[in-house]
Amino acid sequence: MTSDDAPSGAGEDERGIVEDLPDPHRGTDALTGPGATAADQDAARRAELVDSLPRPTADTPLLAELQIDARRRIELRGRKFPRPERTRVITVANQKGGVGKTTTTVNLAAALAQAGLQVLVLDNDPQGNASTALGIDHRAGTPSIYEVLVDAAPMHEAVQESPDVPGLWCLPATIDLSGAEIELVSMVARETRLRTALDGYFDWRRQQGLEQIDYVFVDCPPSLGLLTVNAFVVAREVLIPIQCEYYALEGLSQLLKTIELIQAHLNPQLAVSTILLTMYDARTNLAQQVAQEVRTHFPERTLRTTVPRSVRISEAPSYGQTVMTYDGGSSGALAYLEAARELAERAVRTSTTTDIPAGVPGGPPQEDQ
Ligand SMILES: Nc1ncnc2c1ncn2[C@@H]1O[C@H](COP(=O)(O)OP(=O)(O)OP(=O)(O)O)[C@@H](O)[C@H]1O
Ligand SMILES: [Mg+2]
Repeated sequence: MTSDDAPSGAGEDERGIVEDLPDPHRGTDALTGPGATAADQDAARRAELVDSLPRPTADTPLLAELQIDARRRIELRGRKFPRPERTRVITVANQKGGVGKTTTTVNLAAALAQAGLQVLVLDNDPQGNASTALGIDHRAGTPSIYEVLVDAAPMHEAVQESPDVPGLWCLPATIDLSGAEIELVSMVARETRLRTALDGYFDWRRQQGLEQIDYVFVDCPPSLGLLTVNAFVVAREVLIPIQCEYYALEGLSQLLKTIELIQAHLNPQLAVSTILLTMYDARTNLAQQVAQEVRTHFPERTLRTTVPRSVRISEAPSYGQTVMTYDGGSSGALAYLEAARELAERAVRTSTTTDIPAGVPGGPPQEDQ
């Protein structure tokens, strides 16, 4: 069905996701006949190109990798992604350090903005890494999330637009935020201050006649303190990046327990909607085992796309850029683009974390030597 002949409630499926793009995997005939829209024709052209790629065999792994990149480049670059009916607020959390929270936040945000959506990143980590990667000024003294949380300053006074990607906004973090955990302890409504501020920002945008924000990503510090609690209260969804390494799953049960507590006391709507495997190295047994184990425990929530270990991804922040702008055609950028597309096309999960099996493993799989 094309978006032209959809019944009213147009293009919206039962998941509440607006389907403004045809599925590139369906037959091309329906997309090229009379009545085909420009988007249909574009999808047909992309599908034809993908079909024309050589087929790799089991003994051509390099060709297989190249083919994945080529398919992603053809299918995804320059495409518009579906706009959610209402703003999706996604907290990116894992109290484990260095697992790819910030990298995931900024690259998914940039990919979605490049695909035509309005995206806001809340840098909720005193390290300010997300601000750095987005090229956003966050020197001491810059209006930031600290003033928003501690002084209840209006969020719009601190939000900056990305210099590289239109439609991408960031509330920066400065070094001041490192004191906020302690300052917040004695404050009124200490757990809900970020939510109140974000609601105020949305109201302000409406009054200004600005477009609705489609996605908000909150980048968290590697801890489960008050900053992270604020991030869990402001969101409906949690995205957990998991690094495909030894000890990857340790601490996960503590994270899930914290989320359950937040659900019970502060935000009943919160759910772990998405798990993303990062720094995946397909050549090692360990990475494959970790990925397999995560998929066994969270079959629905784990994105099919894994993010490979990539030099381009790790270089980008030193240029104040995401990999999407630094080298948009690289494997790492294409993987984040594919992950962003999956995220955009998935339903907002309504289930809660309570259906997650109790036996979340405390330890990693054995490496088979
Ligand atoms: N896919 C990847 N390939 C290569 N390097 C990566 C990849 N993802 C992240 N990195 C690098 O790994 C390091 C940690 O990543 P990142 O800062 O995103 O983790 P984090 O979970 O936000 O860390 P923290 O807990 O300190 O906030 C960074 O140097 C980053 O550039
Ligand atoms: Mg980080």
